[in-house]
Amino acid sequence: MFKAHRREFLDRMQDGDIALFQGAGLATRNHDVEFPFRQQSSFWYLSGCHEFDAAMMLAKGINGVEEETIFVLPRDPARETWVGRRMGPEGAIEKLGFDTAFNNDEFHEQVEAALAKAKRVWCQLGFNDELDSFLLSSIQGLRAKARLGLAPPEQILDAGTIVHEMRVFKSPAELDLMRKAAAISSEAHALAMAQCRPGMHEYEIEALLHYTFRRHGCNDSGWAYPSIVAGGDNANILHYNTNHMALNDGDMLLIDAGGEYQCYAADITRTFPVNGKFSPAQRDIYEVVLAAQLKAIDVVRAGNEFHQGHDVSLATLSDGLIQLGVLKCSLDEAIETKAHLQWTIHNTSHYIGLDVHDCGVSKSDGVSRKLEPGMVLTVEPGLYFPADDDSVPEGLRGIGIRIEDDIHVTGGDPENLTAATPKTVADVEEACRAERVAPPTLDTAEVR
Ligand code: GLY
Ligand code: MN
Ligand code: MN
Repeated sequence: MFKAHRREFLDRMQDGDIALFQGAGLATRNHDVEFPFRQQSSFWYLSGCHEFDAAMMLAKGINGVEEETIFVLPRDPARETWVGRRMGPEGAIEKLGFDTAFNNDEFHEQVEAALAKAKRVWCQLGFNDELDSFLLSSIQGLRAKARLGLAPPEQILDAGTIVHEMRVFKSPAELDLMRKAAAISSEAHALAMAQCRPGMHEYEIEALLHYTFRRHGCNDSGWAYPSIVAGGDNANILHYNTNHMALNDGDMLLIDAGGEYQCYAADITRTFPVNGKFSPAQRDIYEVVLAAQLKAIDVVRAGNEFHQGHDVSLATLSDGLIQLGVLKCSLDEAIETKAHLQWTIHNTSHYIGLDVHDCGVSKSDGVSRKLEPGMVLTVEPGLYFPADDDSVPEGLRGIGIRIEDDIHVTGGDPENLTAATPKTVADVEEACRAERVAPPTLDTAEVR
């Protein structure tokens, strides 16, 4: 899969081009402790290399320069005893299928030799300061060697325009990984529904989610983004993730959480009653959001526009706001004046893949892009009524509801990758009643 991506990138290059990519390094968490390593997404997409401080050069039609070169940390048995095994250059050729490989301290020398022969350079300026300044100083160095018949490349091009566009279209192999991330994440949400009880804390539910992600082999930390476990009014903070509060009887719990499997994300939101049973007001809001989501999913079809789901969703949410007594105007007026915006707040869709908010163009010059098979996007409408919002009927206050699934655009009907996550009122209540086995635990009450 990774080699195929490199070949496609090379196909889109011209003779005389080189492309440079720098992988992620380690980031310090505190003192001498590092965050779990996560490879930069495009680097992973093109290399399949999970080691830090790696770099890559692709070259096309340049005399004496191989097409696919990777630079990795050198083998170092003493160091590896402490911090883990490394492939080394030989291992990189064998395991990742590169034409050639070097220790990463040879990157500058090899790239400078290639730059002297290249007409154009593809890179992602602004991503890595060290690479940027090396590239600029190398170019300046080549200018100074004009008398030796050397000249710098004539153009620097944004590698993102190729690799981001490639990443918009998921291959069958990538889709299988996304289905796996989705299945694990659905299971995590179902376990959370089954285990949730009034008096538990948001972090206990977070722990069940992350347990499920890791248990089924999700990457490093397990999650694709910090999990949002938001009880009651916390659901009205869109990216709430401190997850430290107690869950109250009679409140809803909004969970926005997805695992990351071999770097591919899932992104699921479900909102369910802490005590397992919807109150009439909770159900009324929920049914509006659910109707909006189902209608928006139904337009995730090849040939439709990327933002069509957002428009469809807003029409249904606006109508719901009128039915709920929040808006006191006509539907046309609500949409025309965006009167709904205070309670609908965010967009409905984003691409998803190696990054939860995946790269790729969805709109250009103000025009929404047409959907094509192989794209995957979320559909995630919500309604948010903060506890202190005295412009809405009292019974709605302190409730925030979002419902989110990951949808694959096919040649036919939309494929909901996260369809296994309970979603209708009846299914959610059933999932809340279900016996789903939790990991063995200490009695938390005794520890506190
Ligand atoms: N989990 C972030 C989002 O839904 O976009
Ligand atoms: Mn999302
Ligand atoms: Mn989400």
